[in-house]
Amino acid sequence: MHALTKASTATVGAFARPRRRYCSPVPVEDLLSPSVATWTAGDAPLTDVLADHESDDVALVVGVRGGDAAWEPRVRATLTDVGFDVDELLETHEPATKPGASTLVRLPRGRHAARVLVLVGVGDGTADDLRAAGAAAGRATRDRDAVVVLGPAADEGGHAAFVEGQVLGAWAPTRLTGDGWAPGAQGPREVVTVDMEADVVERAVRRSRAALVARNLANTPANIKNPAWMARQARTVARRSGLQVEVLDEKALARDGFGGLMAVGGGSATPPRLVRLSWAPDGADDDTPHVVLAGKGITFDSGGLQVKPPEAMTAMKTDMSGSAIVLAVLDACRDLEVPVRVTGLLALAENMVSATAYRPGDVITHFGGRTTEVSNTDAEGRLVLADALAWADARLDPDVLVDIATLTGAARVALARTMAPIYATDDQVAEALRSAGETTGERVWPFPLVDTYRRAMKSDVADMNHMATSVGGGSITAALFLREFVGDRRWAHLDIAGPGRSDVDSGILSKGGTGFGTRLLLRWLEGLT
Ligand code: BES
Ligand code: MN
Ligand code: ZN
Repeated sequence: MHALTKASTATVGAFARPRRRYCSPVPVEDLLSPSVATWTAGDAPLTDVLADHESDDVALVVGVRGGDAAWEPRVRATLTDVGFDVDELLETHEPATKPGASTLVRLPRGRHAARVLVLVGVGDGTADDLRAAGAAAGRATRDRDAVVVLGPAADEGGHAAFVEGQVLGAWAPTRLTGDGWAPGAQGPREVVTVDMEADVVERAVRRSRAALVARNLANTPANIKNPAWMARQARTVARRSGLQVEVLDEKALARDGFGGLMAVGGGSATPPRLVRLSWAPDGADDDTPHVVLAGKGITFDSGGLQVKPPEAMTAMKTDMSGSAIVLAVLDACRDLEVPVRVTGLLALAENMVSATAYRPGDVITHFGGRTTEVSNTDAEGRLVLADALAWADARLDPDVLVDIATLTGAARVALARTMAPIYATDDQVAEALRSAGETTGERVWPFPLVDTYRRAMKSDVADMNHMATSVGGGSITAALFLREFVGDRRWAHLDIAGPGRSDVDSGILSKGGTGFGTRLLLRWLEGLT
């Protein structure tokens, strides 16, 4: 029973009852609308764009390639057109062509609106190089009023990577000030692109903007966000993006037997929630493929009674990244015209230490009736996801089920901070997700569901132990546990404990939540039929 319900306050007593925490009323709408410039993909030539621009503080962004291609004829001609002496530029500035490098050339007031020329290195022009170049452009133009980008020589994938890089690189974490949430970077107000397909630019902006929504939610401190707060964000998103929404509160969860969510959330003064958000494209019916995405939503992971050491706990406000990503993906489905039905599940709970916290040795009954012996209260993510997956299997009839979670430190040990393990019961699903991640630069690596490790999760007192005690492979055994709850569904699991958070502020990354997986999932969904 949860601490806030009548029954438990009576039995627990006033002394031991956790106090309801004070949450200051901060405006939160802005977190769901990250500040991104207005992007226009024009079809006018660069000369006209610069001549007509009403701002007199324009940064002109141009890519420079490595090797002989450094000044491809198109770039040379365009720059000459707008009054640059390219040979002189080369001599005086020796612009770096390494991806991610940028060279700034200040320009006198005169013939056109450009006040600064930003030369960004695009290396060999691969998608990764172009993403890094876009990020450099975004970072170099954060405090400009307007930016004009000359599309680099690339295919659509390269252009999308550049634009996504630029949106992410221009962004800095939102701050909570005395006046409410404020953008971490002031500009630019406007970006105009030249020589890039409008649809490609627009989609790239929408995808990366979704990643910023996920970052904002992940970065929100845990004294402000809690399961009910996340559910409120989901309602706001549903209203504005045409989604169906359903929130199961602690009473409904207790009534329907969501033992994992109730156990993990039991020690918190703010009870658990399960949120369902559903998107359906125009004209969808029962034959339209249905994808269910489930996200781990631990709004703070103290470790529970088996409390984390200080260093390990500091970052744990981002332990709800999976749910933030799922929310951001659902938010973007309409704008990106995702052609399949998508349901997002947010498995929300706060893992805390208190008199009502669950204990090691407890046996809990998940949704659907399977029982689990709890060995470590810090392995909480799989317990809340188990309920969500079992519910999806029993009630939602998904064609594909995907979960995303900051699940195990072991995943981070195995693949460090740039890649995530992917597990799947279906090779096609795994390959489609892997390839989407290749496109967006969010790399996932197939890990095996090693059946023989399953034996190490036997329990003497329940259907299963939630972790393996005698074998290593912590990320693998966590995945094996989750698999028990997906029935015969095609299922994939992304363990984003490594890349879900960044300690560096560089390239497309900012410190804190990264939103890793948002663009990957959107790319994958956009391509499904
Ligand atoms: N949220 C953590 C995993 C995590 C660790 C995410 C580091 C991001 C960075 C998870 O709930 C956890 O505590 N996992 C334990 C599992 C163990 C007790 C079996 C871990 O990985 O140590
Ligand atoms: Mn934990
Ligand atoms: Zn956790």
